[in-house]
Amino acid sequence: MNGSNGSVMMDVRQLNKRFGDVHAVRDLTFQVKKGEVFGFLGPNGAGKTTTMRIVTCYIPASSGTISVGGHDTVEHSLDVRKKIGYLPENNPLYNDMMVTEYLKFAGELRGMQGDKLSSRIDEMVQVCGLAKMTGREIGKLSKGYRQRVGLAQAMLHDPDLLILDEPTSGLDPNQIIEIRELIKKIGREKTVIYCSHILSEVSATCTRILIINNGSPVATGTAEELTSQMGSGNQYVLRVRGSGPDIEAKLQGVAGVSSVSASQDNEWASVRVACEGNEDIGESLFRCVVDNRWSLAELKRERASLEEVFTQLTRG
Ligand SMILES: Nc1ncnc2c1ncn2[C@@H]1O[C@H](COP(=O)(O)OP(=O)(O)O)[C@@H](O)[C@H]1O
Ligand SMILES: [Mg+2]
Repeated sequence: MNGSNGSVMMDVRQLNKRFGDVHAVRDLTFQVKKGEVFGFLGPNGAGKTTTMRIVTCYIPASSGTISVGGHDTVEHSLDVRKKIGYLPENNPLYNDMMVTEYLKFAGELRGMQGDKLSSRIDEMVQVCGLAKMTGREIGKLSKGYRQRVGLAQAMLHDPDLLILDEPTSGLDPNQIIEIRELIKKIGREKTVIYCSHILSEVSATCTRILIINNGSPVATGTAEELTSQMGSGNQYVLRVRGSGPDIEAKLQGVAGVSSVSASQDNEWASVRVACEGNEDIGESLFRCVVDNRWSLAELKRERASLEEVFTQLTRG
């Protein structure tokens, strides 16, 4: 139990889930703090949806424990369900219901009723930008509006923790921006877990990211931290007038350099220098060029993009 630690919203310990031979979630341990917009990122099949279905008490774990707001998901599943709002992957909705009718139905399932439910529906319709759609049939709404209905449903009972599984899938670029903005707005007041296989989605929206692959965690941190954690991500690109092999040999001797490759274009060499650490060795490279009386047309530092980090960590 982690009830004593008030800043932890969700605590997942040593979680495992097997479907027959498929070990979908392996020894997964992580915490989500109150107020975070937490990005749960991984390629398709990584185990994100499975983890969230366990957290929301839809399926049991094979082993491990989860607590939400200090309540164990097995022993106190009713308390946990009250604390969580869930927008599942593929957002299943009743197509023949009107928007308001559906929200009323969803609220009643949650045990809400009367004026309290009506006023809460009005509020969510405002927050989610559904005012013009309340009398429409859900089946006739655009995908963007359907996601808004899903969000309104998930937030109806004012949960502490909102879980969104691939909330922008199938949306067009404008709808993606709208839903992202809506999630950011919601994230100012709630703890949010944002599951996605798309890095740019998560890095644009989330305060902290956990990357999983094959059911196991591979990295965690802010987008900034993830980029700089990868020591190999630091490179320099130079354009030097001189012979490629000479330049390679001399630059290779500069402290902190791990590899140099040059390609020749007439009297100019385009040189790529990879470094061992995160230290800025630009000045040493410049000195080396000057000491050898070469001309320098370009010297710039390049960092591996988060996209490259993500690909490296989840390849294969
Ligand atoms: N009900 C199930 N029965 C068997 N295998 C499943 C079931 N649900 C998920 N899986 C498998 O578990 C793995 C993780 O899937 P999932 O949690 O949906 O990943 P993600 O949401 O990250 O794309 C996949 O290999 C998937 O095929
Ligand atoms: Mg999924």
